Amino acid sequence: MTTMTAPDIAWACVDLTQLPKLVTKELPGPKSKAMHARAAQFMKGYSGQVKLFPVCFEKGHGVTLTDVDGNVYLDFSSGIYVTTLGHCHPKVSEAVAHYAKTLMNCHDFTTPIKAKLLEKLAGILPGGELTAMQLYDSGTTAVEAGLRLCRAAQNKHEFLSCYRDFHGKSGHAVSLARINYSSGPSRASGFYMMPRPDPYRPLWTKADGTIDTDAYFRFYDEFIAESTIGQIAAIVLEPIQGWAGSIFPPDDFFPKLRKWCDQRKIMLFADEVLTSMGRTGKWLAMEHWNVTPDVVTIGKGFGNGFPVTAMVAKKEYGEAIEKISASTSYGGNPMACAAALASIEAIEEEGLLENAQRLEALFAKRLEKMKKEHPIVGDVRVKGCLMGVELVKDRKTKEPFDEAGKRVYQRAFAKGLAWIPAGHILRMSPPIVMDEPTAQKCMDIIDESIGEVERELGYGK
Ligand SMILES: Cc1ncc(COP(=O)(O)O)c(C=O)c1O
Repeated sequence: MTTMTAPDIAWACVDLTQLPKLVTKELPGPKSKAMHARAAQFMKGYSGQVKLFPVCFEKGHGVTLTDVDGNVYLDFSSGIYVTTLGHCHPKVSEAVAHYAKTLMNCHDFTTPIKAKLLEKLAGILPGGELTAMQLYDSGTTAVEAGLRLCRAAQNKHEFLSCYRDFHGKSGHAVSLARINYSSGPSRASGFYMMPRPDPYRPLWTKADGTIDTDAYFRFYDEFIAESTIGQIAAIVLEPIQGWAGSIFPPDDFFPKLRKWCDQRKIMLFADEVLTSMGRTGKWLAMEHWNVTPDVVTIGKGFGNGFPVTAMVAKKEYGEAIEKISASTSYGGNPMACAAALASIEAIEEEGLLENAQRLEALFAKRLEKMKKEHPIVGDVRVKGCLMGVELVKDRKTKEPFDEAGKRVYQRAFAKGLAWIPAGHILRMSPPIVMDEPTAQKCMDIIDESIGEVERELGYGK
């Protein structure tokens, strides 16, 4: 039986009577283990995700990934929030293949496909003002360009960013986030971090116990006065924190932040490398709060796996953006532009923003049910196809339960769900081409895995 809910995503629907298909006795299987051992002799610094489950993938199609042993998994992470439209989306693959045979690179000269992409992108971004663009090949390089633009526009050099945000791994990008000896070892001068409101773990609350967003802004003003020289070019932040575990702000945060920035002539720089292009059911996550940033970075799902990113600013920054050169070796090459244009068109043609919104309703119901039934589930959150489930040892103390997070990740992977671990927070980002029955199946696997692990750890019935 082929499961289908919408004809426009038929290409990515799967036969759930056959999937996940696990053919080896152990997971990862013997060929995966052998291949991983070969690569690991040379490849150093694998992520925790690979270390916890050293599988070797060979191919992907839509919502499935196949390993070298022939095991077929359902994909609940889209790579790392990258293959938003599913693996090897036919339209995107064809577009890249066409330019791989026609024109691969001609530096930053205009090409017809670049002109088409830029026009298209300007047309879909909200507010009609985000029209000054540069194209890059990674989220990090787009973020760095955004910082250069803010400095050029403001003639100021200080930046604010937020605890637990992530913006990439280059010198200034790491200075926007938590650093350690090997990544830092010290923050670049003029970079400052501040807390941002997390409704589940608020620093400041009102008398009724709900988060006090205004208290954060009072702190920001004090912080600027005490710790900086008052030359703040911009505040840089993720609309929803991805790496930190899908942490959503309270709904009043971004509208208040927009006003706060305007009153102080501080630019608002939204790093939407992870949250843009349909991931949350909108082109930009900032649309959820009707806020247009001054600068936005777009990546990951932009080319659905092909490395292409953008830094986009409001047209009033047109003069400043001219001051920073967009020239790079790979940024805006014809294959990249083709991948991005095909991805945007596929989202429109297949109604994928709507599909992500439909899936959000399904996920919200299932997550709420898990929260009711599993004592170790402290908090659940979802927008579109971006989710987080926080596992805690105790709902009152909210003590993070890392061991449970690790075990649930491995357990669900061994049941055929490919996804990403993040300590005690289960991070989920399925492709937005997923149909509802497959989404239910993935939630069944997670639900079951949490149940099994919590019993193993002495919780629940
Ligand atoms: C919000 C955000 N910004 C920037 C980056 C860096 O992007 P890249 O890894 O493509 O350089 C990431 C990567 O995870 C990200 O999540």
